[in-house]
Parts: sequence; C-alpha cells; structure tokens
Amino acid sequence: MAKEKVLVTSALPYANGNIHLGHLSGAYLPADIYVRYKRLNGDDILYICGSDEHGVPITITADKEKVTPKEVIDRFHNANKSAFEKFGMSFDIYSRTSLPIHHETAQSFFKSFYDQGILVEKKTMQFYDEKVKMFLPDRYVEGTCPRCGNEEARSDECEKCGSLYDPSELKNPKSKISGETPVLKETSHYFFPLGKYQDRLKKYIDEMNEKYGWKDNVLNYCRGWFNDGLKDRAITRDLDWGVKVPLDGVDNKVLYVWFEAVLGYISATKELSHQRSEPDLWKEYWQGKDTKYIAFIGKDNVVFHTIIFPAILMAWNDANKDKFILPQNVPANEFLNFEGKKFSKSRGWGIDLDEFLQLFPADLLRYTLAANLPENKDTDFFWKEFQSRTNGELADILGNFVNRTFTFAHKHFDGKVPERNKLQKIDEEMLDYLKSQPQKIADLIERFKIKDAVFEMMNLARAGNKYFNDSEPWVTSKRNKEQCATTINICLNTIYTLGVIFEPVIPNTSVKILKMLNARPTEWSKSGNSILHQGQKINEAEILFTKIEDKVIEEQINKLEPMADKPIESIEEITIDEFKRLKLKVAKIIAAENVKKSDKLLKLQIDLGSEQRQLVAGIAKSYKPEELIGKKVLIVANLKAAKLFGIESQGMILAVDTPEEGKVKIIEIDEAIELGKTAK
Ligand code: 2FM
Ligand code: ZN
Repeated sequence: MAKEKVLVTSALPYANGNIHLGHLSGAYLPADIYVRYKRLNGDDILYICGSDEHGVPITITADKEKVTPKEVIDRFHNANKSAFEKFGMSFDIYSRTSLPIHHETAQSFFKSFYDQGILVEKKTMQFYDEKVKMFLPDRYVEGTCPRCGNEEARSDECEKCGSLYDPSELKNPKSKISGETPVLKETSHYFFPLGKYQDRLKKYIDEMNEKYGWKDNVLNYCRGWFNDGLKDRAITRDLDWGVKVPLDGVDNKVLYVWFEAVLGYISATKELSHQRSEPDLWKEYWQGKDTKYIAFIGKDNVVFHTIIFPAILMAWNDANKDKFILPQNVPANEFLNFEGKKFSKSRGWGIDLDEFLQLFPADLLRYTLAANLPENKDTDFFWKEFQSRTNGELADILGNFVNRTFTFAHKHFDGKVPERNKLQKIDEEMLDYLKSQPQKIADLIERFKIKDAVFEMMNLARAGNKYFNDSEPWVTSKRNKEQCATTINICLNTIYTLGVIFEPVIPNTSVKILKMLNARPTEWSKSGNSILHQGQKINEAEILFTKIEDKVIEEQINKLEPMADKPIESIEEITIDEFKRLKLKVAKIIAAENVKKSDKLLKLQIDLGSEQRQLVAGIAKSYKPEELIGKKVLIVANLKAAKLFGIESQGMILAVDTPEEGKVKIIEIDEAIELGKTAK
C-alpha cells in the first residue's frame, strides 16, 4: 500500500484536572496505538495534542484556591504532560493554548470571519448572577431541559438528550456558583452562522462516511444535530480569561473556548514547526492535498469535531488562499466507567493516571484498556479484570511463550537461533498464520477496530503456545534434533513478530523483546516474514510481566468500598440443605464451537477429571470459541440433561452479568484447582 501522510490529533484535555483512565480509553490510547502502528507501517505521521487552557472551570478552580488561572494551568499542564509521557503517549508535540501562537491563530480566524462579514452581532439575554456579579457561562447555570425534562441540563445544552437551545428556554434556572436564581441580562455577542453551513456539512459527512466508513455512534450524533437544525452559535463570551476578541473597542470579551480550542490543533502544529525550525511544516499537513486528518475524541466532543470545527474550516477556506483539510474520520469512543460507575473526581471514584503508574507499569494498563476499549458502547475498568488480563494473558500467554522458547533455545541451541530444517505440516501452518496475522491486524487498526486488533495480537501468542505444545520440543530434542531446531526457529521468529506487532499497545515490552532477540524492528508488513536468521545470537530472557497478587488488587478494591453505595438487593432465601443439593464442580473447557443457526449458543466439551461432558452455553455473544479453550470454570454438574437446538447439554456453566447488555463473564477458577473439585 502506498505510504500515507497522516495528521492525527487527540482532544486537548483541559488543564483543570488530572488525566484519568476514562480519558485514556476515549481519545488517547486508541490514537496512540493507531499512530504507533502507522509509524511502523512506514507512514508519515504527525501526532498533535496539548492542553486546553481556557474556559470558565479553570477560573473557578483558581478562585477557589485563591491562585491565578495561570498557576492552575501551569500545574495541570505539567502534570498531564508528564503522566502522558510515562504512559508512553507518542505525541510529536504536547502544546498548550495559552501560547501566543495560539492566541494569534485563533484571532486570525475570528478576524477573517469578521472581515468577511459572516459574523452576526446580536444582543442577547444571558444569565447574570447578581450575587457574584458575573455573566454565567452555560455550564454554570443548571435547570430543567426544555426538550427532555432532564433536571441537570446546562444553560444552553442538555447532555442527556444532546439538544441545544436558547438559554431563555431553560426551566427553573439556578446559578451553580452562588446557588441563586440568575437574571437574564442584556449583552452582545458575535455569532457564527452555523445554520448556513448545514447542507455543506451534511454533504461532507455523507461523503466521508461513504469513502471511509464513519462509526455509527458518530453518525447518529450528527444526524440528531441536523434533524434539530443547526443554529447560529455565539463565539464570544463575557470573561477576561481566554483569547481576547481582536476588535478595537471590545473589552472584557474573549473567544468561546470551543471556538478557539479546536484551532489549538493548528496552533500546536505551528508551534512544532517552530520547535523543529521548519516554518512550513504545519502547512504541509494542514494544507497538503495528500494529507489525511484523523481526529480522535471521546463521545462528548463529537459535535465540535464533526460540525463546528469543519464549519470553521469551511468558512476560512471560502475566503482565504491557503485552504485547510477537514477531518477524514472522527473515530469517537464512548465512555469508560470505573467499577460500574462514572468516574467522578468529587466523589473520589476512579483513579488518576499518575497514581496508577506509581503502582503498576504502563504496559499493563495499556493492554487492559486496549483490550476493552469503549468503541461501540461504554465499558468498565475493573481491578479484577486488570489482574486477570495481566496474569492470564500478558504473563501466562505472551510472557510464558517467550520465556519457554528462550529457555529452550539457551539450553539446547547455545543461545542461538537454530536452523530451519524440513517443514512438517504443523510448521507450515504456523508459518502461514504468522505471515497473515500482521496484515489482518493492520486491516483492523485501519478501520479503528483497535480492540479486535489487540485480540488478534494476543491470538498470535496463543497460537505460538499451542504450536510449542503440539510440537513437543522436549521430546524432539532427544529424538529428532532437526525437527526440534525447526520448532525453536519458528517460535523465535514468532516472538520477533510479536515484538513488532505488539509495539503499538505495549511499547516498553516490545523494546525488551527485541532487545532479547538482538533484533531491530522491521516495517510492519514484513514483520511476519521470519526475519531472524540461523546462528543469530540471542540474549538472556528477561521476565516480561510479574503477576499481580490478589492482595494487591484487594487493597485497591478495599479503598473503593467506603465510596460504593451499592443498592442492597432483596433476594429470596433458600435453606442450606437446598443449597447442598446443587453440585458445583470445577471443569476445564477443552473444545468449543459455534452452534449452527444460533448467535447465542456455543457447544462446549468439558473435562471434569473423571469424565468428559458436552454442554451448550448461551455465551456466544460474550466469547469467541477459541478464547474459552483451557479455561477452568464452575459448572452445575447435577442439572438434568436437556437438548438445545437438538444438541444435548449435560450441565450448566456459571457466569455473571456484566454492565454490557447481553454480555456475561464466566466464573473462572484458578489454574491450580484440580478438576472435579466441588465448590462449597
Ligand atoms: O473535553 C475536553 O477536555 C476539551 N478540552 C476537549 C477539547 S478538544 C479540542 F477542541 F481542542
Ligand atoms: Zn434534554
């Protein structure tokens, strides 16, 4: 595939709080994985981010802390920049909107619109808090949404139903600063005529979607907006913290934070040009005919990136020679919740990135978050899942495969890549799979199906382990050294491929793996081509992942308990004797396949130690058959046999509901517990 020039941005986080895991899953980690993959693919990437340093919340924090807004933004900008670095975010620049270059850029857009005569100056009635003597920005007025009745709606926007309305329509308004009922007072603002761009915006989104396949969630938001009809939007505010309105005689007004924040992507790129002493660099990307622009955001930012920012760029392009490109795709994610609830700083629910990284290495977090991205619906971070992905996937699958192969290569082949001899069917199959997997993963990442891509990465390690087991090098090392050499050669080459393709997700581990192999990364498309040559010396194996003990996870969960306000369920009671009639036994899943014509059922073969059985379980929406093999589970062993879809089922597997509708999680049993043991 021809190499691409790609401009990538992640939403500029407000410098008014710490980055937490929810932010990472929305707009940062998926973008970083995409960017790292594209770089390995040989594409020409510029990845831009920075702090959004204006907006009223920053001034309110400053007032509360009795410091200046500048002190607030400096603190959070530096903290977030450094936490992102520790997390391995590979931005080309992490800039900030308080820089003069940004103020100039945003003002030049405003001026261009003003000079073109497209801005409309309107007198409006706006909420004014007489107690604190200030005009109240939208989010500092709370009331009842005139469309859906949500009682926590903002002055001109309802987060619940996504409507925008005039502040005068809001019912029962209250100032969130003083708690008083605010009055509507006259002020004048400049409005951007968004409605005039509706047809062009619709056409633009339709075209992009047709060519590049936008996500359904994003298209649905856009449709909602178009159906409501786009209205003029005020792009100025009565404040003194922000980018000054660049007009003589207009004092105490700044540009609306969202109007200028999206332009922050451009000014950050200008800043990067300046840092690299390549003054025209930003133009190559923002104004290059062959550049594509991908904007990664969370779902709360959709309208600003699919409608407002493109409209701003269209308006600029209408009147200026230098024309900007518009986003080719806006792959917005839904939200990540934390242990079943929304992250909330005020309620102390959640964990900041920096705090997390003081406890665990970044790659562990990157892997768990990436394997569970809220791409199509909200997902949760659960401590237990973090532990099981670390122990059961990173350590037991990837780490184990690397470790056993290295141990073998050192013991039997003098720490060198052994020769590849005559290939058996099993070797050929492994090599074919190895060769095809990077392309399969690339296709998924190109379509922003990052979660599926991560699953396929781990599948290669799974396949490596299975190949190692099935090839039995511990047997061939004694009886057929040539075959043993071939096995280890292929395993080491598989580890090489893993070292390259896992780089976007777990970059630190990837560096370690390649260092252990004494190898350098290759271009993505070549990574499955068995790059390691016979005789190449390898280094000692390092432990890639340390398992997380139960007590470490319990400590984190216990910290949450005082904050949890779990409703107490009323449950019908049973007697101990009734309970004892249930036989719950430990079993291992040894085979799994889809049941034809059913999208819910899987046919499983299980081993109870003393016997094997078949059962049919309604878990096909939650697991792929191959994910289940080898898992130890609990089954109800004395359930009367039944037929489902004509297939006999001798028992039931225990699973619990998850917050994701229709999805369950099977109860997994520790590997150390013997098959057939009864649960009490
Ligand atoms: O939601 C936020 O954190 C915003 N500061 C995102 C801004 S994205 C872009 F406009 F800069
Ligand atoms: Zn509403």
